[in-house]
Amino acid sequence: MSEPLPALTEIPADLRSLADYERRAQQHLTPQAWRHIQEGAGREVTLRENRAAFDRIGLLPRAMADLDGSTRIELLGRTHAAPILLAPLAYQGLAHPEAELACARAATALDLGMVASTLASVRIEDIATAARSLGRDLGKEAAPLWFQLYLQPEREHSLQLVRRAEAAGYEAIVLTIDAALKPAGMTLPPGVDAVNLAGMPRPRQTSVPGGRILLGTALTDAAPKWADLAWLRAATTLPILVKGLVLGEDARRTVEEGADGLIVSNHGGRVLDGLPSAIELIQAVAEATAGRVPLLLDGGVRQGTDVVKALALGAKAVLVGRPQMHALAVAGMPGVAHMIHLLRTELEAAMAQLGCPTVDALGPERLVAFGG
Ligand code: FNR
Repeated sequence: MSEPLPALTEIPADLRSLADYERRAQQHLTPQAWRHIQEGAGREVTLRENRAAFDRIGLLPRAMADLDGSTRIELLGRTHAAPILLAPLAYQGLAHPEAELACARAATALDLGMVASTLASVRIEDIATAARSLGRDLGKEAAPLWFQLYLQPEREHSLQLVRRAEAAGYEAIVLTIDAALKPAGMTLPPGVDAVNLAGMPRPRQTSVPGGRILLGTALTDAAPKWADLAWLRAATTLPILVKGLVLGEDARRTVEEGADGLIVSNHGGRVLDGLPSAIELIQAVAEATAGRVPLLLDGGVRQGTDVVKALALGAKAVLVGRPQMHALAVAGMPGVAHMIHLLRTELEAAMAQLGCPTVDALGPERLVAFGG
């Protein structure tokens, strides 16, 4: 089997969309890493639906509108150049040696937010330093960085992670609640590891005497519960966003328990096969939470019109997952920066073509269901 190609040092002119990056990325990844990044759970019904649901929505432009505006948004006290954030992804070292550092620099270069995973392959302090030092070099603020928390079996370890994130200057905690019970991941190649969990026990599914497989084992004990959200709320003054919600009722309760934002997500189709896509669910979540906190959405966002559709249905911003890995593998930091720039350019074009110069001008009246 041939070795993966090294990352490019210049961006070729034929890379003009996120789909181009995805097509190219396979050559720059080992077959195992490619499979791991691309795959979904089960028969990948949810994974496919994440794209298909966007494609079922059509767009209705207003004619000859005034187009003086911008894609800027305010989110948790910071200005983002566009409503697009880098989603938390484990082990970005699978795609490029600079891993999360490259993404933090790209986010800073483009004034967009990044969410760093508990399972990042570099220390979260180093990610924050990379963003800050590029910010200094460019004479501007570092990207808004949020820390994504996977609760650890011992609260003391979760608290250590939160304190490290606070000390490193992360501006919010993203508590991911939907992935404690997902199939075991790939075997990591040498040099790629969850370095932020050094010295902490890693829960694994093992058979338990008495015929228990999963329910009632240590693994389900360690999965997030409502009491954990209350604990986290009391443990930090940072804003908390909960990621992995799909239902309005749960969203309402999460807000009542003190969450400052919600990320409607099915984890990129990687956990429960059969979940609908976030774009299909967000309106019900928006109704249930009635604008009390910002709603974000991820899953299948690959082009500017997807962002427009998400915003029109009530999202304040979207996150992109796999495209980061594709762009990292193809061209490292410049690749990620270029990928986000392409998405942002497409978003501006879509807004202009729709006659919506600001993100607030986007609403459900701009959308129509194909075949509906
Ligand atoms: C993820 N996702 C994820 N989410 C999270 O909260 N913490 C994590 O460590 C990871 N790790 C991770 C690894 C890989 C390889 C993928 C593809 C996804 C989920 C991620 O944040 C996001 O919800 C989805 O990736 C969004 O879907 P798209 O953009 O990949 O279609």
